[in-house]
Amino acid sequence: MNIGICGLGTVGSGTFNVLNRNTALINARAGANIQIVQIGARRDNPACDPTGVSVTRDIFEVVDNPAVDVVVELIGGTTIARELVLRAIANGKHVVTANKALIAQYGSEIFEAARRQSVMVAFEAAVAGGIPIIKTLREGLGANRIEWLAGIINGTSNFILTAMEEEGRAFDDALADAQALGYAEADPSFDVEGIDAAHKLVILASLAFGIPLQFDKVYTQGISKLELQDVAYARELGYRIKHLAIARQSEGGVEVRVHPTLIPGNSLIAEVDGVMNAIMVKGDAVGPTMFYGAGAGAEPTASAVVADIIDVARALNSAPEARVPYLAFSGANFNGTPILPIEAVHTAYYLRMSALDKPGVLTAVGSIMSDRGISIEAIIQKRPRPGQDHVPLIMLTNKALESDLMAAVTAIEDLDAIAGKVVHIRVEALDK
Ligand code: HSE
Repeated sequence: MNIGICGLGTVGSGTFNVLNRNTALINARAGANIQIVQIGARRDNPACDPTGVSVTRDIFEVVDNPAVDVVVELIGGTTIARELVLRAIANGKHVVTANKALIAQYGSEIFEAARRQSVMVAFEAAVAGGIPIIKTLREGLGANRIEWLAGIINGTSNFILTAMEEEGRAFDDALADAQALGYAEADPSFDVEGIDAAHKLVILASLAFGIPLQFDKVYTQGISKLELQDVAYARELGYRIKHLAIARQSEGGVEVRVHPTLIPGNSLIAEVDGVMNAIMVKGDAVGPTMFYGAGAGAEPTASAVVADIIDVARALNSAPEARVPYLAFSGANFNGTPILPIEAVHTAYYLRMSALDKPGVLTAVGSIMSDRGISIEAIIQKRPRPGQDHVPLIMLTNKALESDLMAAVTAIEDLDAIAGKVVHIRVEALDK
């Protein structure tokens, strides 16, 4: 089976090196002789040595090359990559891609084109780097009604959060490190604003719940506005703050949301630090499961790319209708479950406000909450610092409807005794 690699960046060079290093065992597993026949890349990469392989600066030469059976798209982005992948499919070639943005935004179009041409499109590396979570949801957990999944699926955000929390590093410093190590997106705002995690979550939600890919319906919030004092208060309450991607079957629809989240400090997933990723999946038959590994980087991502190449080789001789469906459900068998707007989500909350230190303020805040049926689970009030008349007031609520909670936040902000905005961060127990 002849493959052509488009893109020789971090993942492209990693893929080249893994294929070369493990050739014999990869071929034995695939039952095929896998050969890299062409590489398309704008520039060389000192991380690999493609001597002996035809290298072109024109990536479209690779997708038009009659000798290429499988195009491995590792250029990223959604403009040229979309054109490249659709042209590869039109040319009757199978596609392996690590491109989450492409699948999240143009997956429906790409899978329809691929179905018409009876070619495979594999994208394990698009979500959580080396963790085989696509295969897990599509095949391993195929018996289950998935109740929810929650993951740390942006390595850069987790790396920054960990560095800030454990080493007191500045946000910009930690981000620069993540960029130097090749974890961050070309545009790092995709990482720190939650867009990269949202791309990945769209894919996971579709596989888990049998819904179409709907990137525009994901509630997306990153870590860029998170303050260190909230990380510290969360710890005091027994929690850690992680950037979580959550998809949950709820009444009337599926919640699909990405945001900083307080999670119990004693949960396994709270221990996932640095660039590592982890995804918890709760199935009705299997119960809670957790998958952990490197979510970014050259060879961890290459591990997933090469696994897809092996899968393509194994499936080459099976009839298209006998292959594993692109999005887990055969045909276009999506169910009609809607993605819920964020206002309809039920979650607990961490709130922090700056309250005037005088009698009656706590009562006023408490009655705003109780008027909306929101129960307070824990509360901390700090002593005023010398010379200051406002004190930090921190509370945890029980689960409430997002729209009720937001109405309460607005009413609290309107109180004369409260200065500035109320910081509000969602809390997930991840226990049921
Ligand atoms: N920028 C991504 C991350 C790379 O930090 O997780 C892997 O998709």
